[in-house]
Amino acid sequence: MSSWKGLLHTYKEYLPVNDKTPLLTLNEGNTPLIPLERLSEEWGAEIYVKTEGANPTGSFKDRGMVMAVAKAKEEGSKAIICASTGNTSAAAAAYGARAGLRCIVVIPEGKIALGKLAQAVMYGAEVFEIQGNFDNALDIVRSVSKKENITLVNSVNPYRIEGQKTSAFEICDVLGEAPDVLSIPVGNAGNITAYWKGFKEYNDKKSTGLPQMHGFEAEGAAAIVKDKVIEEPETVATAIRIGNPASWSKAVEAADESNGQIGMVTDEEILEAYQFLAQKEGVFAEPASCASIAGLKKQIESGAVPKGSKVVCVLTGNGLKDPSTAIDTVTVKPTVIPNEEEAFLEQLKGGVTS
Ligand code: F0G
Repeated sequence: MSSWKGLLHTYKEYLPVNDKTPLLTLNEGNTPLIPLERLSEEWGAEIYVKTEGANPTGSFKDRGMVMAVAKAKEEGSKAIICASTGNTSAAAAAYGARAGLRCIVVIPEGKIALGKLAQAVMYGAEVFEIQGNFDNALDIVRSVSKKENITLVNSVNPYRIEGQKTSAFEICDVLGEAPDVLSIPVGNAGNITAYWKGFKEYNDKKSTGLPQMHGFEAEGAAAIVKDKVIEEPETVATAIRIGNPASWSKAVEAADESNGQIGMVTDEEILEAYQFLAQKEGVFAEPASCASIAGLKKQIESGAVPKGSKVVCVLTGNGLKDPSTAIDTVTVKPTVIPNEEEAFLEQLKGGVTS
């Protein structure tokens, strides 16, 4: 029996948890902080990844969702609703099922990774595909949640941010202090907001220090970097295909206050990082997550992140969420062989050990 009892139990004193809050959990949190030995050596920095894909539904959304759904339950809500590029809907569906709440999700038609859609339907959510993008979906669910007795569980719900800030606590607990730099993908900008809040709160209580916050958008959806709403955002990293981030100003605040910055990376850079992370380090994260690695690479090359820095890159989601992009990205396909050992040995061309 694991002694880990989930986030609401572990971080009670930092969260809006009271006697009436159900201690809902699927044992989220406590995700591995993995040192990247080869990349650290190559890039001359001390690099770690926070593997949020190890959460119960395979993304960081579980941290925020457990808090938001527990509060919805505490407040007597019977239903939750969200817009999503996929991961929020998977987490909402799972925690909604766990808490016995009706769950309604609105996703952009044809633009969410297969694994995420499988999760939402499997957990029993009512799934609507909007003929529009994430930003359109968010506008609709925000409006509907005001008219109907239904709780909005997107990251504009402050309880989501509360839950998500716990990852910053875990990083400080493992390293003994905050890293020099926190590198993180940015979509709707809730997560960068949550980490910054978490680092600040822990520093106030435990003097763990503060990192520079470096957020990365995908170039085709880089509203903050370009300082304009992107009406038709486009990127291979569908999780962050967002043109009008709800927490825009908070992300800018986090970057400014911490002496960090919001940057952008191209799809090519994302896919390159996606592959070398898996092939050099054995860590398989979904494309959007790899914006944090691609962004760090650029900043180390430009000197914006000095050599020798201690850096944590947040890998927000599991690679298995998006099998299609994996198959499309890697050009080497499995070799088909007859059912004969000789033919197999022939294919190995001289043997495994040569
Ligand atoms: N990485 C992944 C894997 C995500 O799913 C998301 C957001 C982000 C990064 C960006 O986080 O929005 O807090 O800046 N996914 C949302 C969703 C929008 O609906 O699942 P953010």
